[in-house]
Amino acid sequence: MPTLPRLTDLRCEHLVNPLGLDEAAPRFSWKLADPRTGAAQIAYQIEVSAANAVVWDSRRIDADTSVLIPYAGPALQPHTRYHWRARIWDHTGVVTAWSETAWFETGFLSANAPWPKATWIGLSLPSADPQSVRHLCKTFRLPSAPREVRLYITARGIFEPHLNGERIGCDVLTPGWTDYRHRIEYLTHDVTAQLHAGENTLGALLADGWYAGYLTWSKTRGHYGKETALLATLRIVDADGTVHWIGTDSSWRGASGPFLSADLYNGENFDARLDARDWCTPASSSKGWKSARVLTFPSVALTAKAFGRVRTIEELKPVALTQPAKGRHVFDLAQNMVGVIRLRIRAPRGTRITIRYAEMLQADGTPYTENLRSAKCTDTYVCRGGGLETYEPRFTFHGFRYVELSGLKTKPRLDAVTGLVWHTEMTPTGTFTTSNPQVNQLQSNIRWGQRGNFLEAPTDCPQRDERLGWTGDAQVFIPTAAFNYDVAPFFRKWTRDLVDGQYETGAYPDVAPDLLKQLYPEVQGGNAAWADAGIICPWVIYQKYGDVRILEENYPAMARYIAHQEKTAVNHIRPDTYYGDWLAPDASEGGWGATPSDLIGTAYFGRTTGIMAEIARLLGRAADAKRFDKLHTKVVAAFNRHFVTKDARLAGDTQTAYLLALGFDLLPEKLRPDAVAHLDRAFGRRRHHLSTGFVGTPLLCPVLSRFGRTDFAYKLLFHDDYPSWLFPVKNGATTMWERWNSWTPDKGFGDVGMNSFNHYAYGAIGEWLYSTVGGISELAPGFKRILLRPQPHEKLTHAAATLESPYGKISSAWKRTRSTFTWTVIVPPNTTATAVPPAASLDAVKANDKPWSAHAGIRAADAFDSRPALTLLPGRYTFIMPA
Ligand code: BGC
Repeated sequence: MPTLPRLTDLRCEHLVNPLGLDEAAPRFSWKLADPRTGAAQIAYQIEVSAANAVVWDSRRIDADTSVLIPYAGPALQPHTRYHWRARIWDHTGVVTAWSETAWFETGFLSANAPWPKATWIGLSLPSADPQSVRHLCKTFRLPSAPREVRLYITARGIFEPHLNGERIGCDVLTPGWTDYRHRIEYLTHDVTAQLHAGENTLGALLADGWYAGYLTWSKTRGHYGKETALLATLRIVDADGTVHWIGTDSSWRGASGPFLSADLYNGENFDARLDARDWCTPASSSKGWKSARVLTFPSVALTAKAFGRVRTIEELKPVALTQPAKGRHVFDLAQNMVGVIRLRIRAPRGTRITIRYAEMLQADGTPYTENLRSAKCTDTYVCRGGGLETYEPRFTFHGFRYVELSGLKTKPRLDAVTGLVWHTEMTPTGTFTTSNPQVNQLQSNIRWGQRGNFLEAPTDCPQRDERLGWTGDAQVFIPTAAFNYDVAPFFRKWTRDLVDGQYETGAYPDVAPDLLKQLYPEVQGGNAAWADAGIICPWVIYQKYGDVRILEENYPAMARYIAHQEKTAVNHIRPDTYYGDWLAPDASEGGWGATPSDLIGTAYFGRTTGIMAEIARLLGRAADAKRFDKLHTKVVAAFNRHFVTKDARLAGDTQTAYLLALGFDLLPEKLRPDAVAHLDRAFGRRRHHLSTGFVGTPLLCPVLSRFGRTDFAYKLLFHDDYPSWLFPVKNGATTMWERWNSWTPDKGFGDVGMNSFNHYAYGAIGEWLYSTVGGISELAPGFKRILLRPQPHEKLTHAAATLESPYGKISSAWKRTRSTFTWTVIVPPNTTATAVPPAASLDAVKANDKPWSAHAGIRAADAFDSRPALTLLPGRYTFIMPA
C-alpha cells in the first residue's frame, strides 16, 4: 500500500497549539509527509472554526505556500479557542484528506485591554530582606465546578504561580525579561482541572528577577523599580456558560517565607525550616499574613508570551566528586551549562550548606570565580532535617560546570547534585557531525553556548554581573543559531526588545532590553556591528524561516535607524563608534582590535542599506527601495574612496578589513582578486592564523570559501594552537570562550575583567560548518529552494548535516573512501534543491546506482558558481562519484 500524503507538524505562529496568542492574524504552517519523488503542493485550503462553527474557510487557493499563511477571516475574539485544519492538492492534482485538527487560543488580543477584577498588588515587608521572595495568595469559593478556567498572570519581577497547593506549569523566571517600562509579557495557563467546587486558593511566589534585582556591573538593583508586583486574573466559565473573573486586589494576603533572598546574579538563600508547604491551600491559616498593597504604575503594554518560555530542558549527572580543600566538595558535571541544580541531601536540621558555582577550576582544584566579577552566584540552603530533602533554586540562575558544596559534616554522595539545564524553549532543528572528534566537540560547544545564552534574550554570557542582550554578539551568531534551533519566536520577541530600546535619534541600543541608556546618558547607541542587529536579525529570520511579518513589524524602526546613520555619517562615512572588531588579537592593547572603526561602521552602513533596499522591495515599498539603493551606492562609493587604495589595499590592512569589504560586496569586481591576495598576506603575517574579533570572525570561512579558498578555511578550522577554534577544544572547553585565550597552558586565565567561558560569538563559524562542510544552505527564504553543496576536505572521511526546515528535514551526508565519494541527500516535499556534487564533471556521477540522468527526480541545471549542478525534486538520493 503506498503511504498517502498527509499534512504533519501543524503550527500556528511557529508553535504547536499555542495558548494565549495576541496575534490579530495568526499564521499557519504545515509540512507535507509524502515519500514520493517530486512530492509538492499546488494548492491549499485552510478552515478555522470556533465552537463548532466555521469562521473562516480560505477555499482552494492555488499556491504552493505552506509556511506562515496568515488568517484572513473575521476579527478574532479574545479568550477564544479556534480549531483549524488544512488540506492540500498535491503535484498530481489530487486533494489530501484533511489534516488533524490543531488549535490556537487567543488571549486579551490587545496590549491595552483592561484585566477584569485585577489590579497590580505588592507586599511591603519592612523587616525582611528587600530581596526576600513574597508569597501572595487568596482563597475563594466556587459554587460549582467550572467548565473552563484560564489564569492570565504576569509580574514586575519573576513569579511562580500556585493553585491549591500545586505549582502551575513548569516555566521558570516568568514573565521573563522585557523593558518593563514599555512592555510586559503575560502568561496564560489552562487551570480548569485544578479548580473545583468549594474553596480554592490561588497564589504566587514573587521575586526580584530582572525587574528589581541586580543587573549590569553597576552593583545596583531596582533598575525598573524596587518593589515587585503581581497582576493576575482567573477567567472562570461556569457550567452554564456565565463568565466571571477573580483577580489580584487588596483582599490578597502575603508573607515572606523560606526564600530569605533571591537574586539572578547573587543567588538564593533558602531556609527549609521556614517552608510551609501548604501555604497556597485553603487549609493554610495565613495567620499573621499582611494585606497586599494595591499599586499603581504608568500604563504599559501587556502582550502575550505565547513564544518560548524558560524551563528545565535537560538534567546532567555529575561525573566526579573531589575534595580539594577541607569541607569543600566539588562536583564536576562535565559540561559548562546554565541553570540551577537539584540538591538531594540528608543532614541535621539547621545545617547551612553553601553552594558555589564555577565554570573552571583553579590549579588547586577549587572553583575559579574571579570571572564572575561582582555576581556572587552563591546559593545557601539551611536544612529542615529529619530525612532526605530536595532543593532546587528557582529565582536565580548560574553558569557553571562545577558545583561546590560546603558546610556539610560528612561527604555527600555523587548523586547529591543534578544539573538542571535551563533555557528558552526552542525546537532543536540541526545536527552536524564529522569524522573529526575535535570538530564535533566544537559543534557541541557552539550548541551549548547557544543553550546557555538563549535565555529570554540572546545574552553575551550567563555567569558574571552582565548577562545582557548584547546586540553585536547576537547579530554575528544568528545565522548559526538558526541552524541549531528554531529561533524564529525567540528573535521575534527580542527584536521587539530592540525596538523598545531604540533611541529617539533612531539609534538602536547596544543591549536589548536596554539598560545602558539610563546608566550612561552619554552613551548614544548606534554602534557599528552592534546596533546593526536591528536590521540584520529580522533579515536573517526572514531568510531562514520565510517570516515576512518580522520584517513588516520592524520596518519603521529599521528605517529610522538608516535615517540616523545617514544623519551621523560625514560624507557617507560613519564616524568612529565604540566597539571596533571587539577582542581581536591584532591590536597591541585594549579590546578594540586594529581594524579602523570607521571602516567597520561604513562597511556595515553599506550592508544595512543594501538589506533595506531588498526589504523595501519585498514589502512593496518601491519608492523606499529606490532611495535605499541610491544611498547604498553612495555609501559603497564612499567606502572605496576612503578606505581602499587603487591596488585594493584596505585601511588598517587587517584580516577583518578585507573580510568586511569582500563579504559585504563593497569592492568593485576587478579589485576583488587583489583584495583576496592581500587577505592572504594578512594571514601570512600571522603564521597563517586568524587575528579577528567579533566582527571579522563570522566572515572568515564564508568569505574564504566564496573566493575559492575553502582549503585555507579548513586550515584555519584545523589549527589547534592559539588563536584558533580548536585551541579551547584541545584545552578541554565544553562551550565557546569569550577570548581566544581565555585560558592558556602557559599563562593560565585571561584578563579577569572580562573572561567568560560561555560566550557564543566565535561560534558563528557554525553556519559555515553546516553550509560548506555539511552542505546545506538556503537559496530562497525558508529553504523553499535549497543549495546542497558540500565542499569536503581530505582530512575528513565523512560529514553530515541535517536541518528540520519549515518544509521538513533536509539532509546532506557524505563519506569518502580512497576511490569513492558517496553523498546521500534528502530534499523535503514542496521544495527544490540545487545540488552541486564535489566533482569536476557530472559524467561519472551516479544517483541511486544509475546514471543521474536516468532518475526521474533529477534534472540538469545551470552551472552554480561555475560548478556543474543538478536540480533535485523532493526525494532521497544517494550519489556516488569518484573521490
Ligand atoms: C560583552 C560582549 C559585548 C561587549 C561590547 C562585553 O562586556 O561581554 O560580548 O559585545 O561587551 O563591547
